[in-house]
Amino acid sequence: MTAIQGTALVTGASGGIGHAIARTLAAHGAQLVLTGRRADVLEPLAAELGGRALAVDLAERDAVERLAAEAGEVEILVANAALPASGTLDDYTPEQVDRALDVNLRAPIQLARALSAGMARRGHGHLVFISSLSGRAAAGGGSLYSATKFSLRGFALSLREDLRAAGVGVSTVFPGFIRDAGLFADARVQLPRGVATRSPEDVAAAVVRAIERNRAEIDVAPLSLRAGAAVAGLAPELAATLSRRMGAADVSAQLAAGQREKR
Ligand SMILES: NC(=O)c1ccc[n+]([C@@H]2O[C@H](COP(=O)([O-])OP(=O)(O)OC[C@H]3O[C@@H](n4cnc5c(N)ncnc54)[C@H](OP(=O)(O)O)[C@@H]3O)[C@@H](O)[C@H]2O)c1
Repeated sequence: MTAIQGTALVTGASGGIGHAIARTLAAHGAQLVLTGRRADVLEPLAAELGGRALAVDLAERDAVERLAAEAGEVEILVANAALPASGTLDDYTPEQVDRALDVNLRAPIQLARALSAGMARRGHGHLVFISSLSGRAAAGGGSLYSATKFSLRGFALSLREDLRAAGVGVSTVFPGFIRDAGLFADARVQLPRGVATRSPEDVAAAVVRAIERNRAEIDVAPLSLRAGAAVAGLAPELAATLSRRMGAADVSAQLAAGQREKR
């Protein structure tokens, strides 16, 4: 196992995938700053892994700046926190729309802005953004979520070019359906037969691979879903027709029902 040097700030560390990322980075030797809203979940995890817990609400604008300042010198940012933002747009209040944009998109951009300057000055560092296959292929009932996850992809690819010469890496990880823990598992969705899942540990392993090999993008999904996402990139209308026929609307409706209280 290769070592990961320095301090890693993990957002959404109180969640299902964030827990796995924190444990895996700790196992690789990183010092952790763990953040989320729930101090009661973060503090025991930080105590167990030997890191610091900083509870913040990323929907609050001052809190994002404060987090960047309090985290200190950070070598690795894993921007993992997100709200599910599932359901149709007309089912959202204007405030809920703003919160989803703030947590899923504004906070990662502001944290990257605040932390990458120090990384560039020191000549090393890595920014990892946790997007989703919904950031490659859009299905009905996910407009707001896909808006944030597609945006992260473009942001990261461009930023990667800008920071290349400074020795700072930028990666995006695209999980498919993740079992056992996290916002998909919590919603208890019945997937169509034959659609396979991946584990939170698979996402964490992809984060480590992204950092170690400075990979631009890594999908964490079975071949069928990765192929579907690739088709969506080339022929979005065809991909939408195929995913509709495979029951995407039913999955979206189940997700929206199971995630309603997280808006
Ligand atoms: N699970 C999947 O199948 C799947 C698939 C594709 C992509 N993803 C992506 O993977 C990442 C992690 O998701 P997950 O499945 O682990 O979800 P999760 O268990 O619901 O965790 C979400 C995390 O985000 C944090 N968060 C939410 N709102 C916040 C706010 N206002 N301020 C600060 N932190 C906030 C939560 O912290 P608190 O609860 O403490 O506030 C929690 O730690 C997300 O970016 C998600 O879009 C997940």
